[in-house]
Amino acid sequence: MAYLNIDKDLENYIISHRRYFHENPELSWQEENTSDYILKELEKLGIQARKIVKTGVLGIINPQKEGKVLAIRADIDALPICEETDLDFKSKKDGVMHACGHDTHAAMLLGAGKKLQEMKDEIGKVVLLFQPAEEFIKDSGAKHVMEEKILEKEGVNRIIALHINSALKLGTASIQEGPIKASADTFKIEIIGQGGHGSEPDLTIDPIAIGSLIVQNLQNIASREVSPINPMVLSITSFNSGNSENVIPDKAKLLGTTRTFDNDLREKFPEIIERIVKGICESNRAKYNFEYYFGTPATVNDEESAKLGYNVLKDIIGEEKIIHSKARMSGEDFAKYLLEIPGALMFLGAKVEGDSYPHHNSKFIIDERALKIGTEYFINYTKKYFEL
Ligand code: NI
Repeated sequence: MAYLNIDKDLENYIISHRRYFHENPELSWQEENTSDYILKELEKLGIQARKIVKTGVLGIINPQKEGKVLAIRADIDALPICEETDLDFKSKKDGVMHACGHDTHAAMLLGAGKKLQEMKDEIGKVVLLFQPAEEFIKDSGAKHVMEEKILEKEGVNRIIALHINSALKLGTASIQEGPIKASADTFKIEIIGQGGHGSEPDLTIDPIAIGSLIVQNLQNIASREVSPINPMVLSITSFNSGNSENVIPDKAKLLGTTRTFDNDLREKFPEIIERIVKGICESNRAKYNFEYYFGTPATVNDEESAKLGYNVLKDIIGEEKIIHSKARMSGEDFAKYLLEIPGALMFLGAKVEGDSYPHHNSKFIIDERALKIGTEYFINYTKKYFEL
C-alpha cells in the first residue's frame, strides 16, 4: 500500500475528529454542533467556509481559481439508535448513534481538506461539501443542496464521495461505472367504490375485488411492459379495506414501492401505474386517488469519474484489492447529485474481522485503519483530476 500524502500526524488528526463526531452524534437536520465544529475547523485551516442548507457546511479551497471545479461530499448525520458497542468514545447521547459511519466520512473530508489546503498551488478549485440529513429520505440534504443550486453556483464539474462499509474487508474498496444502487420511491392508491351488504354484491362497487385486480395487474409492468434485462421491483406492501364478514366496504387503500437502476424508467412509473389503476377502476365503475412520491433516484456512477477513481485506488491498495460489488437495492441520496453532475461513489472496506455488524445496527463498528485509505483516495483523486 502506498500513502504518499498521509503521515502519522494527519492520520491522528483524522481519527481524533472521527472520535469526536462519534461521541457527539446528531440526527438529520439537527447537526447544529457538528456543523459548528466543522466550520470552526475549516476556518482554523484557513479554508473559506460557510453554513449551507441549515446544518451543512461548504468549504472552498482556491475559491478564486478559474477552470474546472471538483466537489467532495461527506454526509454528517447520525441515526436514532441506542449504541451498544464498548468503544471508549461511545455516543454520549442516549438514543443517537453514528451507526452508518458518517462520522468517518466527515473526518476523512476534514483530513483531505487539511492536506489539499496545504498543497493548494498544485490543484484547482475544490468544494468540500459536508452534507446534512442523508438518512432523512423524504427530505434529504442532497435535495436541498440541489434545489438551492449551491454546487451549480460554485461551478462544480464533478463530484465524488465514498461510503465506508463494515462488510467489505479492510484494505479493499469497490468502485465501478454505471448503476450501483437502485431508486426507491413509494406510492399510494385509494379505490373508492360503494359499500353494501355482503350478500348483495350486485348493489355495491367492491373495492376489494377491484384492488385485487390492481395488485395482479401491476405485476405485469415488470413481466410484460419492461425489458426482462432491465431489473425492477414493484411491491404492494399494504392492502387495507373493511373490517367485517358481511359488509362490503366503500374504500380500499394500497401502499407500495418501486425500485429500478434506470432513472428514465423511474420517471415513467407514475404514469404507468396510474394508467393501470385508472383502467381497472373505470371498467369496474370505481373512482380512485393516486399519489406517487419520488424518494431517491438510482445511483449511477459516471464512466470517466469511476475510471479515475479506479486508477487512484489501484495506486493506493493495488488492483487485486479492488472488488467488483453487485448493485444494491438500497438507496443513497448522493444519487441526487449524479442526476445533474457527473461523479462517482466509492465503497471503502473497513470490516472488523470476527466482530462485524451491518450498518444501522446498534453494535456497528469499523476499523479505523481504513480512514487513511479513504483520505488518501480523496487527496490523490483531486491531484489526478487537476492533472487531466
Ligand atoms: Ni450511510
